[in-house]
Amino acid sequence: MEKTIAVLRGDGIGPEIVGEALKVLNKVAEKFGHTFHYKDVDIGGCSIDKYGVPITDENMAVCKNADSVLLGAVGGPKWDSCPANIRPEKALLAVRKELGLFANLRPTKLFPQLASASPLKPEVVGNGIDLLIVRELTGGIYFGPRKTEEVDGEKVATDTMPYSEHEIERIGRVAFETARKRNKKLASVDKANVLDTSRLWRATMHKLVEEYADVEYSDILVDNTAMQLIKNPGQFDVLVTENMFGDILSDEASMLTGSIGMMPSASLSSGTCGMYEPIHGSAPDIAGQDKANPLGTILSAAMMLRYSFSMAQEADAIENAVQQVLNEGYRTGDIMQPGCTQLGCVAMGDQVVAHL
Ligand code: IPM
Ligand code: MG
Repeated sequence: MEKTIAVLRGDGIGPEIVGEALKVLNKVAEKFGHTFHYKDVDIGGCSIDKYGVPITDENMAVCKNADSVLLGAVGGPKWDSCPANIRPEKALLAVRKELGLFANLRPTKLFPQLASASPLKPEVVGNGIDLLIVRELTGGIYFGPRKTEEVDGEKVATDTMPYSEHEIERIGRVAFETARKRNKKLASVDKANVLDTSRLWRATMHKLVEEYADVEYSDILVDNTAMQLIKNPGQFDVLVTENMFGDILSDEASMLTGSIGMMPSASLSSGTCGMYEPIHGSAPDIAGQDKANPLGTILSAAMMLRYSFSMAQEADAIENAVQQVLNEGYRTGDIMQPGCTQLGCVAMGDQVVAHL
C-alpha cells in the first residue's frame, strides 16, 4: 500500500520522538512492502516562531489531504505568554476540529514488565490495568461560545458547554463498537446530577443501549469515576465521556501505569483519516538531550496502522517488538528499574527497529 502521512513534529521532545517513530514506520514499510510518503508540517511554537501563527492554512491543508497525521507534542514555556488565539495548543484544537476528529481513543495498559512503576499498591493493580477512554474531542466546553467582559466594574469570564444529540450519539456509537471488540463493558461518565448537558448525554446513551444489548452498560458520575480509577481500576473496560471530563480522567488513568511516556492515542473521524500522538506533552526540560521515551509515539504509529490503514499485522509487529525490547530489560530514564539497561531516545528506537 501507498500512504501519505502528515508529520507534525512540534516542540520540545516532539522532533526526537517522532524521528524514532518514522524509523519504525520505515522498517515496517520495508518488511511488509508498503510505501509511506511523509509531509512535514510545522505546528505549535515552532510555527509561531516561523510564521506568527500556530499553524498556517497551507499546513492545515496538508493535514487534510494526508491519509493520516502523526504528531509529537506542542507547546512550552517560551510560548506561555502568547495571546490566547495564537497559543501552540490552539493549533491542536484547530486540527481536531478541521479534520472532524471527534473520537479520541486513549488506551491505558499496564505493561507487566513495568508493574512496579505504578504508584498503586500491587493488590490494587491486581491482574493488571487495561482500560480505554473514549473521549469526545470536538464539542463541549473546548469549543462552546466564550467571552470575557466587564460587569459592574470587574471582569467576568464565561465558557459554555453545548452538546447536541447527534454529537453524543456518534461518540456513543464509537464507544459501544469499541467495547464490542474488547470485553463488552461500557461505562458512560457524566455529571447528570448537576448538568443539563450530562442529562442529555445520559438520555442519548440510553437510546443506544438496546441496539447494543450485548454490551454491559452502566452510568457513572465523573467524581466517582475519579475515585474508582484509584480504588479499583480493574473494574473498567471502556469509558466514554465528554471532552473536558475525558481530558482530566485520561491523565489520571495514564498515571495508574506509572509511565505516561508509554501511552499512545488515536483521534478518529467518521472517515479513515486520524491523528495519532502520545498522550504526554513536549517535556521542554529534557528536549534535545536524547532522554525522551519514544515508545508512546511508536505505539501511536502502530495505532495509525491499525485504525487508519487497516494494517493489523503490521501494528501487531510493532507492539510485539516493543514488548520484546521491554522483556530484554531495555528502558528509557522515565521507566528505568534496577537491573535494567538504560537507553537514550535514539537507541530505544534502534532496539524496536532491530526487533522488527
Ligand atoms: C490533551 C491535551 C490538550 C487537551 C491540550 C494541549 C489542548 O491536554 O490532548 O489531553 O486539553 O485536549
Ligand atoms: Mg490533556
